[in-house]
Amino acid sequence: MSLDLLFSPLHLKNFTLKNRLGVAPMTRMSSVKDGIPRQDVLDFLVRRAQNGAALVYTEAIVTDYESAQGYPGQARLVTQRQIEAWQPIVAAIKKEGAVAIMQMFHCGRISWPEINPAGRTIAPSALIPRDINSLTGKPYPLPDAMSRFDIEHVILGFVETARGAIAAGFDGVEIHAAHGYLISQFLSAYSNQRTDAYGGLPENRYRFLHDIIEAVAPVMPGDRLLTVRVSDWGVVDMDVSLFGTKEEYQEIIRLLSREPIDAISVSTYDFKEKAFGTEKNMAQITREATRLPIMICGKIYDRASAAEALEDADIVLSAKSMLLNPNWVEDVRRGKALPLFKTADADIAYTETPLP
Ligand SMILES: Cc1cc2nc3c(=O)[nH]c(=O)nc-3n(C[C@H](O)[C@H](O)[C@H](O)COP(=O)(O)O)c2cc1C
Repeated sequence: MSLDLLFSPLHLKNFTLKNRLGVAPMTRMSSVKDGIPRQDVLDFLVRRAQNGAALVYTEAIVTDYESAQGYPGQARLVTQRQIEAWQPIVAAIKKEGAVAIMQMFHCGRISWPEINPAGRTIAPSALIPRDINSLTGKPYPLPDAMSRFDIEHVILGFVETARGAIAAGFDGVEIHAAHGYLISQFLSAYSNQRTDAYGGLPENRYRFLHDIIEAVAPVMPGDRLLTVRVSDWGVVDMDVSLFGTKEEYQEIIRLLSREPIDAISVSTYDFKEKAFGTEKNMAQITREATRLPIMICGKIYDRASAAEALEDADIVLSAKSMLLNPNWVEDVRRGKALPLFKTADADIAYTETPLP
């Protein structure tokens, strides 16, 4: 496959991505007041669009005021002030010819009570992760197993936040079903031991995500994008394969492919890594089960890795390289020798140092 494919356009519904390189969603924890990120954190997204990214994802935006927040200083997008803070940012990203998508999430059991205004932690089942919370140094609290009312309340949070994104002018919305947060907790038998319609067989564990998509899709104007992010790993208990087997993962991907969504974003730690004991990587295994466009992410840091990742996907996303190198897209275009950044390098995301 030609390396130039990286810089060829991609039609995605009503949009044309000018190249195949996007900014992966990155939480910055800078919203100290009223759920609005620091100005330099917002401006960072505009600068990445100015510097050539075709697609810009926001940080994971929290969906409700009861239990959705997982980290201090996360952003929200439901009030007029929050919407007005994002409007000029979204307009500036679009002016650069990039597509702007808001990612929204509920953290589920990856939280602690003090973080949420209502002081409550919820999850599909009352199960605590094995790992302790690295931010508090304590075990995660025992979550309340979600009632039907909780399920409906959380779904409304996704709907309200999607409406906020549309009001702010975003080209699309992403439902974050990855990394062991709430939706991922429902999808995985590791964290979902429910015995009602939302637990048990994969199609039952999938039901919560289906209900969210079913509720969110109608509030989106027909010309906007709806994407879903999935992963087989979570931010805690990282060694656990959340789907367990290739068959189970592909069953979820097939269910997802029947939905009115425009792309599946697959998050990995390393796009090359073989998955589920097979000889194939996550993008290849996803491709076998869907015709939807695929975004792939994980250790894509230079032209060669980006071109290789694109062999099995349609769009490549980068987090750390986009975070730390403002000229990343141009450097990839020129085939410059580039560093593979380490996890610790990304800690700068949580300082008050404005990034170039
Ligand atoms: C600072 C930082 C914040 C992140 N926040 C999010 C997030 O809010 N939502 C999400 O889906 N992934 C998040 N991730 C994961 C990245 O999107 C990406 O999947 C992961 O870093 C692997 O890509 P990379 O090797 O290009 O860094 C974050 C990563 C970093 C480094």
